[in-house]
Amino acid sequence: MGHPELKAETLRRRTFAIISHPDAGKTTLTEKLLLYGGAIRQAGSVKARKAARHATSDWMEIEKQRGISVTSSAMQFDFDGYRINILDTPGHQDFSEDTYRTLVAADSAVMLIDCAKGVEEQTIKLFKVCRMRSIPIFTFVNKLDRAGKDPFELMEELESVLGIRSCPVNWPIGLHGDDFRGVYHRDDRTVELYAGGNHGQNFVEVKTVSVDDPACAELIGKSYYDKLMEDTELLDVAGDEFDIDKILSGQLTPMFFGSAFNNFGVEPFLKRFLSYTKSPGARVADVGPIDPMDEKFTGFVFKIQANMNPAHRDRLAFMRVCSGVFEKGMTVWHSSSGERIKLSQPQQFMAQEHETVETAYPGDIIGLFDPGIFRLGDTLCTGSPVRYSGIPLFAPEFFSRVSPVDSMKRKQFLKGINQLSQEGAVQTFKRPGIGREEMIAGVVGALQMDVLEYRLKSEYGVEITRESLPYRFVRWVKTAPKPVDKLRLPSTTVPAVDKAGRDVLFFENEWSIRLCVENNKGLELDETADRAEADAIEV
Ligand code: G4P
Repeated sequence: MGHPELKAETLRRRTFAIISHPDAGKTTLTEKLLLYGGAIRQAGSVKARKAARHATSDWMEIEKQRGISVTSSAMQFDFDGYRINILDTPGHQDFSEDTYRTLVAADSAVMLIDCAKGVEEQTIKLFKVCRMRSIPIFTFVNKLDRAGKDPFELMEELESVLGIRSCPVNWPIGLHGDDFRGVYHRDDRTVELYAGGNHGQNFVEVKTVSVDDPACAELIGKSYYDKLMEDTELLDVAGDEFDIDKILSGQLTPMFFGSAFNNFGVEPFLKRFLSYTKSPGARVADVGPIDPMDEKFTGFVFKIQANMNPAHRDRLAFMRVCSGVFEKGMTVWHSSSGERIKLSQPQQFMAQEHETVETAYPGDIIGLFDPGIFRLGDTLCTGSPVRYSGIPLFAPEFFSRVSPVDSMKRKQFLKGINQLSQEGAVQTFKRPGIGREEMIAGVVGALQMDVLEYRLKSEYGVEITRESLPYRFVRWVKTAPKPVDKLRLPSTTVPAVDKAGRDVLFFENEWSIRLCVENNKGLELDETADRAEADAIEV
């Protein structure tokens, strides 16, 4: 007898991440989404949390105080009958490989763009990961209450910088900030009028008028009306058609305009987003795709958060439910140990505090108490064992040569590095010819190197010396026309091997990556690598 709720609960789930560059308004938008979902009475708590986290520059102190607090990792709320899970991708300060891995657990992404700044660096990086997985990407252009770029220019930027075509679902009227009139919804031919003012924590009564109503031109102003007619004609004739298949396969991004801060355009966006996106789909495992409505429970671990407090070594493993029903206390098969384990103390995350979860459905995110047994990419399931394909290693962007200050501490140093690399906090590389104690540590966010040093000291009692290296890119050698040491490499490019002994090349800039590929016909480089191979090896 199957679980009676499984189908209905799965169908109403939507699990997504918001990707953006710092300051585009992600915190504000998240807060407003939660407000519309009724998850928090007053918007503001997300912001307060962010402010609290960044109020002091002493990250380590914050982490210590935060302990194992996880409130910002996933948020859940209901809206219009849907159950929504928002995965948090941290801002600039906290940027790490975790940020990339989180996207592996999302079914779609909302790409938030500041209308004045357009596509920025961090957005590009996160977009690439979404692209890799072909998940649908919805674009929300924010801060329309301020002067910004021409929307046609933004569409062009999406195409030239990100390589994705866009299809505006609505269109802004008035682009100079102070003359912002509202947006035109192309699907129902209505203009939603912008009332101005900061509505912060209150719902805004939406005023709309049909574009075919003679009063419309008067309400927004004749010149704006004429411009709107001109723009939309151009869009109808020259723009891409709204094609839901292309959107769902990540080839076309629907584009929305609004102002999160002023609660403008958020609700219409959310409604359309929810109706266009699909509930969790099948995920591919070694036995083939597994349907979320399969009675068999399956899930995978995509993030492991360590407790910074040395008195508590336990960690929290984040799992995404992929199929079946998760129930508290259930016994599951665990892929990396090959054993059956009981999942007790699972936690789910709400806007403000986490609470113990009794039941969870496909698309939901659960935190599992981890005494140190979980690995990134682990599959957990009931019944016969299955494995989801692993979570890749993403190319680090900051590199340092590290070694223990005291060579007698080599054992602890290696143990610490090993455990931290299994957690996904660091990747290690070796250059031919460098000493046994030394290795190259690579991390995705600059701050992560400080975290590494701090954790080795506080958790493993090892002080390290650290020398920054000038490289900003590492690429795995997929195929090479000849042995790597015989390749024609740019002068600043150096070969090394990763933890699993695979050949890699370090580069200082993208230009030298291109040059290297041009100079060595048949050379293929990868930005990601298989994690499982590296995890199996101790350095
Ligand atoms: P982030 O999480 O992406 O880093 O961005 P966050 O929401 O913190 O927003 C960054 C800044 O942009 C904030 O201003 C925020 O108020 C502002 N902002 C967000 N959405 C809009 C919008 O639609 N219009 C305008 N004009 N501003 C917006 P701040 O001055 O840094 O912080 P605060 O003083 O407002 O708290």
